Amino acid sequence: MKGNARSMSARLMDGKSLAAEVKGELRSRARQLTQAHAEPPCLATVLVGDDPASHSYVRSKRRLCEELGFTSRHCELPADVSQEEVEATLRALADDPGVHGILVQLPLPPHLDEAATLELVPASKDVDGFAPANLGLLAAGKREAAFVPCTPAGCMRLLQHYQVPLAGARALVLGRSKIVGMPMALLLNRADATVTVAHSRTRDLPALLREADIVVAALGRPGFVRGESLKPGCCLIDVGINRTPEGLVGDADFASCSQVAGLITPVPGGVGPMTLIMLMENTLKAAEKSSSSRELSARTPG
Ligand code: GUN
Repeated sequence: MKGNARSMSARLMDGKSLAAEVKGELRSRARQLTQAHAEPPCLATVLVGDDPASHSYVRSKRRLCEELGFTSRHCELPADVSQEEVEATLRALADDPGVHGILVQLPLPPHLDEAATLELVPASKDVDGFAPANLGLLAAGKREAAFVPCTPAGCMRLLQHYQVPLAGARALVLGRSKIVGMPMALLLNRADATVTVAHSRTRDLPALLREADIVVAALGRPGFVRGESLKPGCCLIDVGINRTPEGLVGDADFASCSQVAGLITPVPGGVGPMTLIMLMENTLKAAEKSSSSRELSARTPG
């Protein structure tokens, strides 16, 4: 650590207030769409079982739909539901033209086949951005055509808002999950950062952390990143939401990291609200695409 790093105090990347700003924009786009097509964007949520955290997440999503002028359709299924019933629910939502986005709250109870269930969400309604078709579009550099997974999309929006220079920056993504680490790496790469993806088998992580201008921590390990390991002045985005006896904590040890980083996201109030609002943006995008394709087919003869 450099001599005066301890006296440095990071600026907070306030996801809560940025999400509130985006909320205003989405509300007016949703109003325009509803006026033009007499149909508000509609998000369907599928919730299986009794997990209190999942119930609370889905409640927040439905409440936000209401605040934005969207409608929501909620399908709640018992913990012992059969795979066939879950699949029938998803087929009905997939076929319903009034539903623009489908969100299957994860995790599903262990007796259900998560992959087979998610496969029934059509790419055009995959507002979570989990479908291979959407990840493929992202990898092919066709971001506009894809639904980008909500957490990485929210992280990129924070980086943009706080004007973090990306071109040529060394970015370190901790974690290689399909829904956060890998798409995050693709997005940073498209923005011309030099990206390293680290994981449980990575050698000499301290050396990588020391060099990184941007660190995205998405490991699910409470307090894993410590200030002493960071490059002074770096930007640290903490994706972790870990429930511990001390409350919600991120993947970074906030007390030490905020003394060394130049910019840091708090937990809660950083990435979490951005993830939620990006889900709403994807739902609106799905509704806009659906109405423009309906318009096009109405105008196309035969
Ligand atoms: N469970 C925890 N986070 C998420 C998410 O982003 N999407 C879905 N579908 N389930 C989750």
